[in-house]
Order: sequence, then C-alpha cells, then structure tokens
Amino acid sequence: MEYKVLSNGVQLPMMGYGTFQLREGEECRQCVARAWEAGYCLFDTAASYGNEKSVGAALRDLGVPREEYFVTTKLWVQDAGFDNTLRAFERSLENLGLDSLDLYLIHQPFGDVTDAWKVLEEAKAAGKIKSIGVSNMTPAIWKEFVLQFQTLPAVNQVECNPFFQQRQLRELLAEGDVKIEAYQPLGHGDNTLLSHPEIVKLAEKYGKNSGQIILRFEVQDGLIVLPKSTNPERIAGNLEIFDFALSEAEMETLRALDTGKGHHDPEAPGVVEMLLQNFKVHD
Ligand code: A2P
Repeated sequence: MEYKVLSNGVQLPMMGYGTFQLREGEECRQCVARAWEAGYCLFDTAASYGNEKSVGAALRDLGVPREEYFVTTKLWVQDAGFDNTLRAFERSLENLGLDSLDLYLIHQPFGDVTDAWKVLEEAKAAGKIKSIGVSNMTPAIWKEFVLQFQTLPAVNQVECNPFFQQRQLRELLAEGDVKIEAYQPLGHGDNTLLSHPEIVKLAEKYGKNSGQIILRFEVQDGLIVLPKSTNPERIAGNLEIFDFALSEAEMETLRALDTGKGHHDPEAPGVVEMLLQNFKVHD
C-alpha cells in the first residue's frame, strides 16, 4: 500500500474500500472483513449509506488495535447546521461503535455548511476526529463555502474517473494542498470505460484487468481511490496495482480520455431536493 500525506501530516492509504450500496447486515460485514483480509485498511462509509453499524461491527470483529485501520464517515445533508451536526456526529460514532474517526466529511454542500464545519473543527481540536474534509464540492461551490471557513479541508471527496478527471478542481485544490479522494473511480462499473480500447490494450500489455489499469492510472496521478466491489476476486485484485507503473506516454494517453463530465452534478437545479428524497437518515 502507498500512502498520501495530508496537509495536517496524517498519512492516508491511497486506496480505500468504498461501501456505498452495501446492504446493512451480513453482506456488508462479510465484504468489509474480506477487504481487510485482502489488505485494505481504509474503510469509507457515510450516514446515508445506512451501513455504519455493519462496517463498525465488522471492524471490531477483526480484533485488531484501532490504530490499524482508518474509518471515514460523512455528515448527511439533513444534518447541516451546528446542533444538528453535533447530534449527527455522535450518532455516527454510536452506529460505528467507535470513539473517534479518522476522517469526517461534509457529504453534500448544501444548507448551513459553515456551522457544520465549525463543529468538525471543534471535534478535531478535541481529538475526536483526526482529519476533516468535504465532498461533492465543485470549484464554484468550493469558492462559495470554503472562503468562510477558518481552516481548509484536508480532502474533497468527489466523483472522479478517466472520463471525468476533475482537472479544474485539482488545480484549485493543489493551491491549498487539499487532496482529492475519488469516489466511483471505476466509473461505477461503466462498461464503455472498462472496455475502452486504450484501457484494454494496457490491460493486455501489463497482464492486468481494466479496473486495475484505471486504478493504477488514478493513484499514479496522485488520487486517493475508493473502489467498491462485492466480488472476492475483484476486492483483492483491485489492490494489486502497486507492482507495476504506467509510462509517462501511457499516462498522457489516459489523461486524454477526460470528457470533463460526470454523472452527478452538484450544481444542477433540484439536487438537494433529490438527495433529501432519496436518502433519509432519521425522522
Ligand atoms: P462487482 O461488485 O461485481 O465487483 P465504482 O467503485 O467506480 O463505483 O465501481 C463499482 C462497480 O465496478 C461495481 O459494479 C463492481 O462490480 C465493479 N468493479 C469493481 N472492480 C472491478 C474491476 N476490477 N473490473 C471490473 N469491474 C469492477
């Protein structure tokens, strides 16, 4: 595993196990346990994924010291604002069965994000969270909110894959040494991406599968990636990207696949209403 040093000095693994859409219960517990066995030590969940209890239970069942794994969870959009964030943070800790988090993110940039951020800063100062960050912030949204923050987020977790490389955002965040975490780094299993001729060609050359080529490209390009799989071979296989390197010419070929467009547009009208309708974390 390779590590990325965040602006606060914390070393974060460059690949974590994403748990979006893993059902609370046996499926989620088994996948998290498998991922640990395969070699993942960063686990990414969220209040809105509805599986914090299973992620936490699976990690506790490992019986290993707490400092051996990293846990990220996220504040849901329903809980923006000072008091709501305080309650939501405690609820997530309780669900996970942990007394501290490695990374806590503001999941969606809507509502009273500024007061939510103050709660995160205080919890970090109190030692309850090691690193704090945001998610789904486009350059415009970043400028709208982050200018009001006292401290910069350590990460911004956004959709990112070879068809949507977030170049403008990367330039902006690099100015403040803010790291990008790529969610859906495999394009959420998009077959046009996985079967793209340039990617297939490299897969054949290096004796890897398309997913491994994409993840290698992203990590080599400086991203922290959070692939998701429920398949035991792919859970393990996705980690096998640290034993080869793409040439600079190959990196350029893959950089050229960028279309500048993703699936989720946080600036689209009606997004917050859609999110609130689709994910309700409490009454
Ligand atoms: P599966 O769970 O059957 O492995 P993302 O992380 O971008 O959201 O992508 C997740 C999707 O990609 C899932 O449908 C997952 O299916 C699939 N997937 C994960 N790893 C690979 C891989 N190495 N090659 C092809 N598909 C993959």
